[in-house]
Amino acid sequence: MSRDEAAQAWEAIAEGWAERVRTGTDHNRVYLLDTATLDALGDVGGLRVLDAGCGEGRFARMMAERGARVTAIDLSSRMIELARAAEEKDPLGLDYRVADMADLSPLASGEFDIAIAYLSLFDVRDYESALRELARVLRPRGRFIFSISHPCFFTPSSGWETSVPNSFRDADRLYFKVDNYFPASEIRFRMWPTAPTELINYHRPLSDYAHALRAARFLIRDIHEPIPTPELVEKLDFWRGYLRIANFILFDCVKAGS
Ligand SMILES: C[S@@+](CC[C@H](N)C(=O)[O-])C[C@H]1O[C@@H](n2cnc3c(N)ncnc32)[C@H](O)[C@@H]1O
Repeated sequence: MSRDEAAQAWEAIAEGWAERVRTGTDHNRVYLLDTATLDALGDVGGLRVLDAGCGEGRFARMMAERGARVTAIDLSSRMIELARAAEEKDPLGLDYRVADMADLSPLASGEFDIAIAYLSLFDVRDYESALRELARVLRPRGRFIFSISHPCFFTPSSGWETSVPNSFRDADRLYFKVDNYFPASEIRFRMWPTAPTELINYHRPLSDYAHALRAARFLIRDIHEPIPTPELVEKLDFWRGYLRIANFILFDCVKAGS
């Protein structure tokens, strides 16, 4: 999928996406990844943060509410329109721009203390250029935090094998099957069953990420594999699967340099 095709695909689902994330129905974000990402970020008060692939801006707003000075970019102009409309309604000082994270030429080098890519880097075909560009716009020792679906488990042919067809009950889950981990490949999916267009996540083995991070001069400081709280698991059986395999991985990196 070319950059323009990717932009068009995200344009087509922007309204539905905003509706979904703004009504809190994206449980992975609300119950798992927001906390993990905020914990990894720590105190962002006064820091200059770039949110790369910000979508309609929900997490950019969360960081701005915590005192960060946020610039947020997205490939989709409709996503940015939706984000700007939210900013107009409830101003937090956010600066939204339409841009490709693989070409951040509108942004100066060394401009940011932190860059984040919250479930967006795996949407980018040219992730190596994106990593180089994100490193460029960070100051030396600036931090880069990104999350993706866990590549060890989410491959084109992975999924739960269940004793009862299509069951979501944990007791019916026999094991999680994974195949074709090594080849970099495209995972085509619809964000929700009736979504007007398909999207692509780019699956890559962990070593590809490690090599590309190194080439961009990032050092991996830490890795998180978020799991639900015991209260959440107690409340909803569905979450038990998240204690068996890691759904997401979050990399906490730092730009090498003096
Ligand atoms: C799964 S959404 C995540 C949005 C937001 N980070 C969140 O978690 O709510 C991925 C976003 O990345 C954007 N995106 C995809 N490719 C991009 C690229 N090359 N540069 C910038 N944004 C991109 C899409 O338009 C989409 O809004």
